Amino acid sequence: MAATRVEVNIPEEAPYDVRIGEGVLDGIGEWCQRTPAVAASPQVLVISDANVEPLYLARTKASLERAGFKAPDIVVPAGESSKSTAVAAELWEAMAALGLTRDCAVLALGGGVVGDLAGFVASTFMRGITVVQAPTTLLAMVDSSVGGKTGINLAAGKNLVGTFCQPAYVCASTDCLTTLPEREWRCGCAEVAKSAVVDSDEFFFWLLENAAAMAARDASVAAQAIARCVVFKADVVAQDKTESRGVRECLNYGHTLAHAIEKLSGYGTFSHGAAVAEGMRFAAAMAHELVGASLDFVDAQADLLDALGLPRLPWTADPEAVLDAMKHDKKARGGQVRFVLLRDVGAWEVCDVDDATILAQLAAWNATAPKEA
Ligand code: NAD
Ligand code: GLY
Repeated sequence: MAATRVEVNIPEEAPYDVRIGEGVLDGIGEWCQRTPAVAASPQVLVISDANVEPLYLARTKASLERAGFKAPDIVVPAGESSKSTAVAAELWEAMAALGLTRDCAVLALGGGVVGDLAGFVASTFMRGITVVQAPTTLLAMVDSSVGGKTGINLAAGKNLVGTFCQPAYVCASTDCLTTLPEREWRCGCAEVAKSAVVDSDEFFFWLLENAAAMAARDASVAAQAIARCVVFKADVVAQDKTESRGVRECLNYGHTLAHAIEKLSGYGTFSHGAAVAEGMRFAAAMAHELVGASLDFVDAQADLLDALGLPRLPWTADPEAVLDAMKHDKKARGGQVRFVLLRDVGAWEVCDVDDATILAQLAAWNATAPKEA
C-alpha cells in the first residue's frame, strides 16, 4: 500500500505534511531531513512512553541516526498521569541537561498523551523548539497529532495548561496500529465517527459502508479513514487555528456529555472514545428535540456507532451532578453549557442550552440506558 500525503496549510503557519502508510516510521529520519524546520537539528529528542518504547523506539532512532541525526530519548510512564506539571518539569530539566538548543527538535512517539506532553514541552522550552509528531494510536493519528493543540493536566481539570504549536511533520505509520489494544482501537473509532458525522454525507456514508471493516481493523480501510479525518481536521483548523472563530468547536461534538461521564464515572472507567460515542448519541437525541434533527439522522448515527463496536453505555448519573460537571468543563462559557448539535450530517451549530432543558434531556436519557451486564 503506497503512503498517502496530506498537506496541512494553516494561515500564518509553515505548511506541513502528514504521511500516512504502512512502514512510514522507517523513513522518518529521511523525511525529517526533507523538512526544513528539522533538517539542520543537531539533536532530535525522541519522547515516548513505556508501552511504546519496546515496540517502536529502536526503529525510530535507527531511522533518525541513518539520516545523520543524534537521537537521544526520554521515556515517560504510560498513561494520562504523565500529562502533569511534574513530568513536564522533569522533561525540561532533562532537555537542558542534554544540551538541547533552539535549533533542536522533539519527536513525539506515542499516543495522544505523549503527543500533547511532548508538544507542550517543545513549545515552551527556550520559548519554543520544533516538534515532529509520530502518532501510534488511532486517536492520535486521526485527531491529536494534527492541529497543534498541546497540553498538560492540573488537579483542577484536563488540558488546563497548554499551547497551540503546529508540528513540522506528522508521521502516521499505520503498521503501529497492529499492536494497539482493542479498547484503544474503539476509542479511536469514536473520533473517526465524530469526524465523519460532522464533516459530510460523503465521509459519513463511506464510513457506514466500511464500518464493519473498520471495526475488524482492516488496514486499507483504516488508512483511508485516517486520511479522511486528517483532511477534515486540517480544513477545520485552517479556518480556526485557535478555536476563536466558532469553527474549531465542531470538533467537540459529543464531548460535552463525554467529559462529564469521564469525570463522574472516574477517569479510565470508560475509554474517552466510548464516552464520546455516548455523548454523540445524547447530542443527537437533543438535536431531534431542539434543532429539528430527523429520527433518520439519529438512527443512522446510532447504526454507525453500533457497527464500530461503540454501543450505548450502561451508565446513569444524577442529572444535577452531570449538569454541574458540564458547567465546570472548560468548554462552558460563563456557566452556560454549550452543545455542538447537528440538524443533519455535516450541518452543525453550537447551541447554548438552558439548565432545565438539559436536566429534562438527561432524565429521559437515564430512562433508556441499558442495564449493566
Ligand atoms: P494514550 O496516549 O494514553 O495511548 C493509549 C494507550 O495505548 C497507552 O497505554 C499507550 O502507551 C498505548 N499505546 C500507544 N500506542 C500503542 C501502540 N501502537 N501499540 C500498543 N500500545 C500503544 O491515549 P490516546 O487515546 O492516544 O490519547 C489520549 C490523549 O489525547 C488525552 O490526553 C487527550 O486529552 C489527548 N487529545 C488531544 C487532542 C489534541 O488535539 N491535542 C485531541 C484528542 C485527544
Ligand atoms: N480535538 C479537538 C481539537 O483539536 O480542537
